[in-house]
This record gives sequence, C-alpha cells and structure tokens, in this order.
Amino acid sequence: MTRLRFPDGFLWGAATSAYQIEGSPLADGAGPSIWQRFAHTPGMMRDGATGDVACDHYRRFREDVRLMKALGLTGYRFSINWARVLPEGTGRINPKGLDFYARLVDELLANGIEPNATLFHWDLPAALDDRGGWLNRDVAHWFAEYAQVMFRALDGRVRQWTTINEPWVVVDGGYLHGTLAPGHRSKYEAPRVAHNLMRASGAAIQAYRAHGRHHIGVVFNIEPKYPATSSAQDLAATRRAHAYMNEQFADAALLGRYPPELHEVFGEAWPAIPEADFALTCQRPDFVGINYYTRAVVRHDPGQYPLQASPVRQPQATYTETGWEVYPQGMVDTLTWFRDRYGDLPLYVTENGAAFPDPPVADGEVLDDPPRADYLRRHLQALHAAIEAGVDVRGYYAWSLLDNLEWSLGYSKRFGLYHVDFATQKRTPKASARLYAEVIASHGAVL
Ligand code: NOJ
Repeated sequence: MTRLRFPDGFLWGAATSAYQIEGSPLADGAGPSIWQRFAHTPGMMRDGATGDVACDHYRRFREDVRLMKALGLTGYRFSINWARVLPEGTGRINPKGLDFYARLVDELLANGIEPNATLFHWDLPAALDDRGGWLNRDVAHWFAEYAQVMFRALDGRVRQWTTINEPWVVVDGGYLHGTLAPGHRSKYEAPRVAHNLMRASGAAIQAYRAHGRHHIGVVFNIEPKYPATSSAQDLAATRRAHAYMNEQFADAALLGRYPPELHEVFGEAWPAIPEADFALTCQRPDFVGINYYTRAVVRHDPGQYPLQASPVRQPQATYTETGWEVYPQGMVDTLTWFRDRYGDLPLYVTENGAAFPDPPVADGEVLDDPPRADYLRRHLQALHAAIEAGVDVRGYYAWSLLDNLEWSLGYSKRFGLYHVDFATQKRTPKASARLYAEVIASHGAVL
C-alpha cells in the first residue's frame, strides 16, 4: 500500500466564526449584531440558546491558541465581528474591539499559526440592518469602509483575508426561509440580497487592491447535486438546485453573470440587474475557499417553494446529526467541477466536518468519536485524490476547532475536534483531534 503524502507547505487549519465562539458580544463598547438581536428574539433559537457566552473565546483565546498548537495547526480561520470594530457599522471605530483581533493575531503569529481572517460570517451590525442591511445597495460601500479599517490595522500581520463566508446561506436562511438572522421570508428580497453580497465582496477586493499586500478571497459552500433519476423533470430540478446553490455566487464573482436557471426559480421576483454591476462583483480573488460537507440527490418537487426541487434520502448511506449524507466522493467532484468551470486558481477547503452525538466526557480522557474521526479520514483521502487529479488545493480547515453555537440549532450539534463543556468551559480533545494531529505530523501518511 502506498502512503498518502500531501504537498510540502500544504496548510493544515481549523475554522471557527465570531458569533459561534466568542461570547461577550457587547463587551468593551461593541455594538449589537443581527445575530445578537435574533438570538434574543423569543422562539428563534433552539432551547433559547444565545451567543452571550458561547465558548467564552473572547476571554480564553490564548488557551484556544494553545489547543491549536497542540494539534500542530499551521493555519487558523476565524471571523471578525464587524460591530465590535464599528459599533454603528460605519464611521466611529471602537479601538478596544479592534484590539481584540490584533491580540488574537499576535498570539497566532507567535505560535507559528497563519491567520485567515473572514470579514463577514453573518453577524451584520444591527445598526446597518436598521438602514436596510443587505437590501440597501449602499451596503457595498459600508462593507468596503469596514474592510479598509481592518486592512489598515492588520494587513501587515494577516496574509490571508476572506470577504464573505457562504453568501448562499445568508440568502437562503436569512432572507428566503427566515431560519437565520435577520429572519425574513421573501423571494423578492433573496436575489437582491445575493447580488448585494457579491457587490460588497467585490468592493472589498477592489479596496484590497489599493491597500493590501497579500491575499484576499471569498468562501462558497458548494454541495454537488446529483439527479435522483434520469427523467427530464429530475434533471431540470437538479440543474435549478445546482444553479441556485453552487453557481449563483461563484458565477457573479468569477464570470460576471448569473446562471439562466435563476430566472426560472425566481420568476417575476428576479430583479433587473444593471450590467455595470458585474464590473464590481467580478473582481478576481487570489483564492477561493470551498466549504464542503455533503451532497444532495435531487428530484422534481412542485411543493417546494421556490425551487421545485427536493433532496432524496439515500437508504444505504450514513447521515450526520444535522441530516447530511456522508459522501466523500462529493469533495472530489466539487473541487474538480470548480476548477473546470472557473479555471485554475488556488483553492482551499475552508470548512469540512460533521456533527455526531458524542459520548459523555470521562475525566482526563480523550473522548472517543469514531464517526467523526471516520468522516475526517475519508474526506482527507478524498481531498488527496483531488490534488492527485491536478486540482490546486493549498490547504484544509477542519470545522470546527471547538464545539460551538450551531446558529439557530443552538448548542445541540457538536462539530468540534475539542469537546466543550458549556457549563465549565472545559475543553477535552476528541479522538478526531488526535487523528488530525497525526495526519498533520505525518503529512497524511497515517491516512
Ligand atoms: C458552515 C458555516 O460557515 C458555519 O458557520 C457552520 O457552523 C457550519 N457550516 C456547520 O453547519
């Protein structure tokens, strides 16, 4: 058996996001975000969960950097809470908020861990939501202003920036189905928000070209779609689902257009888009991050609004606790599809991981999590296969470093390499963390 070996310099990371781990959302002069508001609106969150404490990372970040170091990570992907830095979203800077991220970055660098800072991972300042939020075309300027504040403060030390994380989820959960902040349900709003997210991402990349010295990219969640049967209806439904979820944002960013199936999906709600806007959305990033978790097998379903498509459960497959099929081949298919459609550009897997119920923690012991370890092993093998097939993948970030707030699902879904006891804040390594450390130390040979 030949042993796997990942390329020299391959980046081994883990990812988190601000609202999911930081806690102390209003500390030191921070403004509220839409997630702060949403989580405090009765009925929006499972078990009434909030991010008020989360993993208390705002106060324990040094300890958490030690956990990263223990894994041998060479990269860490985190996000910045915009409202900590600009409490009103624009204008006045809050130096204490900025300082938190500067201290985090310094701690990472002192430990030889490359920071990848995401500017927007869903926590829009509430003050901007009051001005229309992602529905207001000015959001592109607001975002570029905030991005420049961060570039000026940290570009000397942060060499990898991400504009926006998973714009599709913001649109689908936040504006179409109302399951995520700000909780709107409108097929008229969804495509407008999608477009403004990509205008904002483009505006930040444009601003970066004026100030920045390193790399900036954008992160998309890609979930490959496979037709349930070869009927014309199922094939068309699969095309629609794929265009809506996988092509919509990447096409705007990399091809300067939208796939035609979106007109079909949104019908009369599809907005007239000024052609000139594509000059802004289409700013070539230095890299693209892909978040890969699962696939969907799709069938035509007239009852599903507005896509008229729904996923079909696979009887033989294993599903995670969030109901996602474990399908490592989808990672290979996704990465090769992306390269074939958008051309060669450096790619990173910026998230990949799984929630499974974990056994109780016994003191002083590593928590055994065979399904998560198996998920990790099989997806890293698939990633290696994609690299062997010639896709330029430069690094991998496991989701997530820590168990954390899974948005409106609260603390019920654990994705961490480290278990977190939310009553005591004690972190305990899981067997998947041990496996990952061995993979990193051996460049993949233990796979
Ligand atoms: C993608 C999101 O970026 C992250 O915030 C979320 O927790 C994971 N997927 C798991 O659902």
